Amino acid sequence: MVSEADVKPEIRKGLIGVVADVSAVSKVVQETNTLTYRGYGADDLVQNCSFEEVVFLLWHGELPKPKELEQFQLAERAFRTVDPSLLQTIAKLPTKSHPMDVVRTAVSFFGATNLSTNDPFVPSEHVNLARALQLFAVTPSLVAADLRRRHGRLPLPPNPDLGYSENFLWMCFGRKPSPEHVRAFETTMILYAEHSFNASTFTARVIASTLSDIYSAIAGAIGALKGPLHGGANEAVMHHMNEIGDPAKARDWVNARFANKEKIMGFGHRVYKDGDSRVPCAFAAFKAIATSDEGKRYLAIYEEMEAAVAESKGIKPNLDFPSGPLYALLGFDVEFFTPLFVMSRIAGWTAHVIEQYAANSLVRPLSSYTGVPQRPVVKPKD
Ligand code: COA
Repeated sequence: MVSEADVKPEIRKGLIGVVADVSAVSKVVQETNTLTYRGYGADDLVQNCSFEEVVFLLWHGELPKPKELEQFQLAERAFRTVDPSLLQTIAKLPTKSHPMDVVRTAVSFFGATNLSTNDPFVPSEHVNLARALQLFAVTPSLVAADLRRRHGRLPLPPNPDLGYSENFLWMCFGRKPSPEHVRAFETTMILYAEHSFNASTFTARVIASTLSDIYSAIAGAIGALKGPLHGGANEAVMHHMNEIGDPAKARDWVNARFANKEKIMGFGHRVYKDGDSRVPCAFAAFKAIATSDEGKRYLAIYEEMEAAVAESKGIKPNLDFPSGPLYALLGFDVEFFTPLFVMSRIAGWTAHVIEQYAANSLVRPLSSYTGVPQRPVVKPKD
């Protein structure tokens, strides 16, 4: 048995290149530069499936048969309604708090009201799948309620006649979205749904590995996603674009930032070194709705920034780069972009939590101590 004192290992800061466990949920296939969910290319899924079908696939390993899909959709629609006590809790949170903090708090509240001290530490997979579905179904309603209250509006009840994406856009804006907008939104939901051992998914798995509950794992994952090096990048992208304002200023802005040794959010990736495989699909969705003057301006800024970053650093955009302006064009306030990512990634996080429970080993790495050697207690004097 290795003790912490014995360890003089090679330290991989940020766990770069460390394979921490096996997983059958998704894979980045380097040879084809494709992200696959349960073996299917994410771009292929965007072209051929609804978000609900993709979520079923992530949880159950196979695409649903028509009857299974029908049952899944019925269940999802049945769990969308938010309990009034949760709506009251959201209403009490300050509107200056970040919507990621609201959704993290709301998920915690939801967990506290769904669990009891009599529950087993890890219930059956069946129970966890039901909890995952409830969380997946209710989270859009929480996000929409938070968005509306910041505009002085009351929450709108979910519409069980509408699919996931259409209903969410309806609950946010109170009008029927165009099919183009639904399609663009749905594309981002599918592309954001899962991405192997990224920081937030790994956080969820670490929490699950202690045999804590699924809600705690998801609340922790939301906290990890908030940071600008992870999910928070889609918000940061929009702040960049708004600061630039005019496409003619984009190149100078990029160069000044690099001269200042600052990163540009929405570029680079830990896993993809030759471009994020999800970008072409997301960019096409963004371009398809960028028809207004504002849309064309964002598109021009996008292209100028992409070219300037490639010229100076050879770095390519990641999914957050097209998603940022896409969400702005759908009418979302910038600080809601990462909660939209949460809504989608709940599918992947919960698939991983369930996988972790099924073959668990407590995640507890070692560290190489660099502090003061052991010494007796001698209290300091004035
Ligand atoms: N802007 C400017 N330079 C960047 C960059 C970016 N977005 N991403 C990477 N680089 C540079 C680094 O400065 C570093 O250069 P150096 O070797 O001269 O120091 C090199 O590329 C390697 O970057 P590093 O941050 O060490 O790579 P990583 O694998 O640890 O980081 C990210 C991956 C995602 C953390 C990093 O690309 C990043 O911070 N991107 C911006 C945040 C973002 O978009 N996050 C969402 C990811 S999906």
